[in-house]
Amino acid sequence: MNRREFLELIRNTALFSLISPLFLRRQAEASRSEAAEADIPARFLRQIVTHDPARSRTIMWESDTELTNCRVEYRMRGTARVPLTVDVSYTYFEEDGDALFLYTAHLAGLTPGTAYEYRLHWQNLRGPWHTLLTPTENAPFSALLLTDTQCGTSYDLFRQSWGAAWNAAPAAEWFAVLGDLTDNGQSSWHWREFQRALGNLPDGVMMTPVMGNHECYSLEWQFCDPRRYLTLYSLPSNGTSSHTGLYYSFDYGPVHFIVLNTQEEELGAFYPDLTEKQLAWLRRDVIQSKKPWRIVLMHKDVLAYDEIQPKTQTSGDFSDTGNTFCPVFDELGIDLVLTGHMHTYRRRHLFRQKSSDHGPVYVMSGPAGNETFIVPDDPRDLKACSQPTPPNFLILQADAENLTLTCQTADRDVLDTVSLRK
Ligand SMILES: [Fe+2]
Repeated sequence: MNRREFLELIRNTALFSLISPLFLRRQAEASRSEAAEADIPARFLRQIVTHDPARSRTIMWESDTELTNCRVEYRMRGTARVPLTVDVSYTYFEEDGDALFLYTAHLAGLTPGTAYEYRLHWQNLRGPWHTLLTPTENAPFSALLLTDTQCGTSYDLFRQSWGAAWNAAPAAEWFAVLGDLTDNGQSSWHWREFQRALGNLPDGVMMTPVMGNHECYSLEWQFCDPRRYLTLYSLPSNGTSSHTGLYYSFDYGPVHFIVLNTQEEELGAFYPDLTEKQLAWLRRDVIQSKKPWRIVLMHKDVLAYDEIQPKTQTSGDFSDTGNTFCPVFDELGIDLVLTGHMHTYRRRHLFRQKSSDHGPVYVMSGPAGNETFIVPDDPRDLKACSQPTPPNFLILQADAENLTLTCQTADRDVLDTVSLRK
C-alpha cells in the first residue's frame, strides 16, 4: 500500500465513522422492509419528482425478470381505508449486458400537506407500506443537493458522502443530484454501483435527477443519447414535448425550481434545437410562476475557469452555458442558480446584462464522488475552498422570505453559508 492509498484508507475510515445513527437507522428500517418484501423481487424503489409534488408523485422500481400484473395501492397514512389502486406501466431496457424491467406508477390527485402510505402489489403478493409525504403549499422545507456523484473504481466514497449528507440534514424532504450521477452513461457497472450506494432511499424522500454530460457518454466515450438516464427516471413532461425529461420545472413550498439541460454540445446530434426550444420554454415557464423564489438546478457552470469552451474556443470567462443562460436569468429574475461539473466549490454574484442592477447568486458545488480536479481562481469568485476539494453537499432551507444554503463536507466542515432574503 503506497502513501496515497494509505491516506485514502484513513480518510475513508474517518468518514465512515461519521455516518449518522439516524441514517443507519433509516437504512436498517429500509432493509427490514426489503426483507419483508422478499416475495416481490423489486429493487431500487424510488419516488421521483413530478411537476407538482404537493399533488402527485411518480413511483419507480426495477427487476431482473418481468413482473406482470403489478399495481400500487395507496391511502392516507394511519387510516384503515380501502386503498386506491394505480396501474403500473413497464419498460424493458437492455444495454451493456444489463436487461432490466422498469416499472412506473403515477399517483395523482393527492392532497397537499398530507402523509400517505403506498405499497407494491404483484400477483397475490403485497409488499410493505412505504411513506409518501406531500408538501404544504408555500410551507418551509429543507432539501439536500449533491452533484458529481460519479466515481472511478469504487462508489464507496460516494456511499459515505451520502450517509454524511443525511447525517447533516435528517429532515430533508427530498434530494437532487445535479448531474454526472455516474461516470459513464452506458455502463451497467456504474449505474448498478451508483444505485447500490444510494441503497434503499430514506422512506418518504423524493429524488430529483438533473442530467450531466457523463450521462451522455457511451461505452466508447463518444456522445450518445442518454437512454439509460431517461429510462431510469420518468421525469416531469412539462418541458418541451419533443424533449421530455431533458428539462422540466416543479414547485415545492415557496420555490419554483427550474431544472435545465446544459448538454448542448453532447446532445447536439440528437436534439439540434435543444437550446432554442429550451430558452423559449424557460421564458414561458418562469413567467407563469407565482412562487416568491425562483431557483435553477443545472449541471455545467456559467464560468469556464480553465475549460476550453466548444463555441468560443476560450477559457477564463463565461462558459458557453453562461453565455446562453445568464442574460435570460437576469431578465427573468432568477434568485439562485446551483451548478456542479468542476468538482469544487465557488460562490459568485453575477450580472450578465450591463443594464441589469441585479442577478442571481451562482453556487457551484461538488464533488460528492471520488473524482477531484484542481480549478484555477476567477476574480469573480466571492468564496472558494481548498483543493482538491473534499466530498461535499448543499443543504437548502427555504421559506417564503428566506433562503439559506449551506455547503458542508462529509467531514462536517462548513465550507460556506449564503442567505438570501425577499
Ligand atoms: Fe460534468
